Order: sequence, then C-alpha cells, then structure tokens
Amino acid sequence: MGGTALRDSTVLVTGGGSGIGRLMALGAAGRGARVVIWDLDRAAGEGVRDRIRSLGGTAHAFEVDVADREQVREAAAATLAAVDRIDVLVGNAGVVTGKRLLEATEEQIARTFEVNVLALYWVARAFLPGMIARRRGTVVTIASAAGLIGVARQTDYSASKHAAVGFDESLRAELRADRTGVRTLVVCPYYIDTGMFAGVRTRFPLLLPILQPKRVAVRILDAIESGRSRLLLPPFVRLLPVTRLLPVRAFDALADLLGVNRSMSRFTGRR
Ligand SMILES: NC(=O)c1ccc[n+]([C@@H]2O[C@H](COP(=O)([O-])OP(=O)(O)OC[C@H]3O[C@@H](n4cnc5c(N)ncnc54)[C@H](O)[C@@H]3O)[C@@H](O)[C@H]2O)c1
Repeated sequence: MGGTALRDSTVLVTGGGSGIGRLMALGAAGRGARVVIWDLDRAAGEGVRDRIRSLGGTAHAFEVDVADREQVREAAAATLAAVDRIDVLVGNAGVVTGKRLLEATEEQIARTFEVNVLALYWVARAFLPGMIARRRGTVVTIASAAGLIGVARQTDYSASKHAAVGFDESLRAELRADRTGVRTLVVCPYYIDTGMFAGVRTRFPLLLPILQPKRVAVRILDAIESGRSRLLLPPFVRLLPVTRLLPVRAFDALADLLGVNRSMSRFTGRR
C-alpha cells in the first residue's frame, strides 16, 4: 500500500506555528497540499498561514489547545467547514519541562501527558472517521527518540513519548486489521535545533548529531508520501530497539557512555 501524495491533499499540522510543525506546514504547501495549522499561539499559526497564502497556497489557521477536548471538537468542526476533509493528520504539538521528577510540579507533569499523549487521541478521533470512510489518509505521530529510551530529566517527556509510540503502533494494528486503507507513521527524532530543547548537548555529534529542522521536515514529508510506517533519525537511533536485548547494567552503561543521560544537564528550553 502506497503513501499519501501531498499534492491536492489536505494536511492538518498541530503545533504548526513554529519549529518542525511550521516547516512541515510550509513544505506540504510547497508540494501542493492545502494546509490547516492548529496552534496554541494564534499569532504564530496565522503567521504561517499568511506566509503560505503569500506564496499562492491555500492555508487556514485556528487557535486551539489540543489538550482541551471541547476546543478540539469545536476546531475540528470549523476545520471541516473550511476544507471539508483532512487526508494527513500530523500530531506534532508537544511540550517539555526538562525537570527531574521531584522538581517538576504536578501541573507540569499532567500537562506533558495531556499535550503529548491525550491530545493525539482527541485529534485523531475527530478526523479518522472521515479518512476511514474515504479509505485514504495518514495519521502521523511525532514522537521522539525519547520514546525508545528513557532519559534523565525526562521522566514525564520520555514516558509521554513512549506512550505516543504505543499509540501509533496500536492504531496501526487496528487500521490494518480492519483493512481501512488508512496508514500511520511514527517519527522518532533525536534532538532537533528548534529551540524547544535549547541547551541540550550531544557527546558524539557524528553518531548522534543535533538535527537540522528543515531536513527533518523534508524527511517526514517524504515518509508520508512514500508510505513508510516508521522514521527514526539519525540512523544511529535505529539501533536503540536492539540495545533492549542487553542486560540492564550493560544497557545503562551504554546509554551513559553515549552521553544520553547528561544531554539535558544544561537544558534551558525556550525561555
Ligand atoms: N526539538 C526537539 O529536539 C525534538 C526532538 C524529538 C521530538 N520532538 C517533537 O517534535 C514536536 C515539535 O517540536 P518542535 O521542536 O518543533 O517544538 P516547538 O516548541 O518549536 O513547536 C511546538 C509548537 O506546538 C505548539 N503547542 C504546544 N502546546 C500546544 C497545545 N496544547 N495546543 C496546540 N499547540 C501547542 C507551540 O505553540 C509551538 O508552536 C514535538 O512533539 C516534540 O516533542 C522535538
């Protein structure tokens, strides 16, 4: 089964106002897609919309908190009134605290799961019925390499991304078993230079480089069009699942050697 061609498709990007979401929105429009941007930050979303329109494309922007079920329902209705269907749904909105378990507030921990995990459910449930009825489309989950390995100072973030990986895999199984014709794609990148993880460091930049946002966006759009189910970046991240076969002490030693657990020590995030 092939992927979803972007030309003449309608693509919704949550968190499309900045970072890789913004670049995926602009890139999809460049490939001939109509684009819908949902973002908490109204000005950011509208800025991307206006840029696409100024380049001759079709775009709409809605101010939505994807963690708020009521707002998702209302925005989904407004979106379908504006564009009549969504072919590619990119669950990209995400947040990070970068705090140790005992330093984060309960509200911050809950918010991480509401945005990075539960929102995937609310948004997919709004648009999947249409995709299944048309037997066409791709549900993209932007997870993280932190969805494949736990990382110090990411007890909330890494666990939320593990959940995102599980969400994608289970949904893929359901859609396949029901022969719906709808695909899923999960994306697990190492750190990307968008500002979300400002301050992070990598110990072996050749093996685990900090990724360039433009390149990541292009790779995701290519994966949607080619029908890939999983995109792990950079290539070294593909070895992570194999390291699970190691005894725990060896696994922990390898993670420490790679500098994974010190990567967050100078994390500032967006201020
Ligand atoms: N930057 C990285 O190093 C990295 C690495 C792996 C995975 N990711 C994931 O990629 C995705 C995008 O990250 P980015 O680096 O482009 O981040 P970013 O901070 O640049 O962009 C995130 C966007 O999501 C929006 N957003 C946040 N909460 C929202 C909510 N509740 N409702 C609607 N919009 C909301 C923000 O306003 C922002 O525009 C995230 O899911 C992130 O976890 C990022």
